[in-house]
Amino acid sequence: MLKGFYEAHVGGWEVALVLFIIGYILYRMDKVKVAKILHMILRLMYIIIIVAGAGMLVMTNFADWMLLVKGILGIVAIGLIEMAMVRASKRVPSTGFFIGALVLFVLVILIGYGVILR
Ligand code: HEM
Repeated sequence: MLKGFYEAHVGGWEVALVLFIIGYILYRMDKVKVAKILHMILRLMYIIIIVAGAGMLVMTNFADWMLLVKGILGIVAIGLIEMAMVRASKRVPSTGFFIGALVLFVLVILIGYGVILR
């Protein structure tokens, strides 16, 4: 079960990262139709990432506080991703959200793999 959550979690954010970058660029290039589809799949990835992450937290009885902090930062990263995507789709300035989301995304990966904040 834990392994399943783990695989879903890692697979989820890997796919989400690719969908975010390509989807964001397509929105900014006015390729709205394709971007909308990628955006929809990206939203499905949020759910998989959050459910699998929360599942791992519950199964490990919240033993590691750092993982809880990482989870909260992960949710904030997803919030920034969604802000960047929605703003790009509405053609309002969004470069700051895009960069911010990418920076936080990388930060969460570094915390997840224990590179920083151990
Ligand atoms: C953009 C969002 C997220 C990214 C990029 C991300 C990334 C990662 C990475 C890189 C790992 C380490 C995988 C490994 O050890 O091989 C991990 C593990 C984990 N993540 Fe996330 N995560 C995100 C969101 C979340 C959320 C929202 C939660 C909780 C609600 C969460 C909870 C966890 C937990 C509990 C682990 C298990 C770590 C372990 O047992 O070693 N993550 N995540």
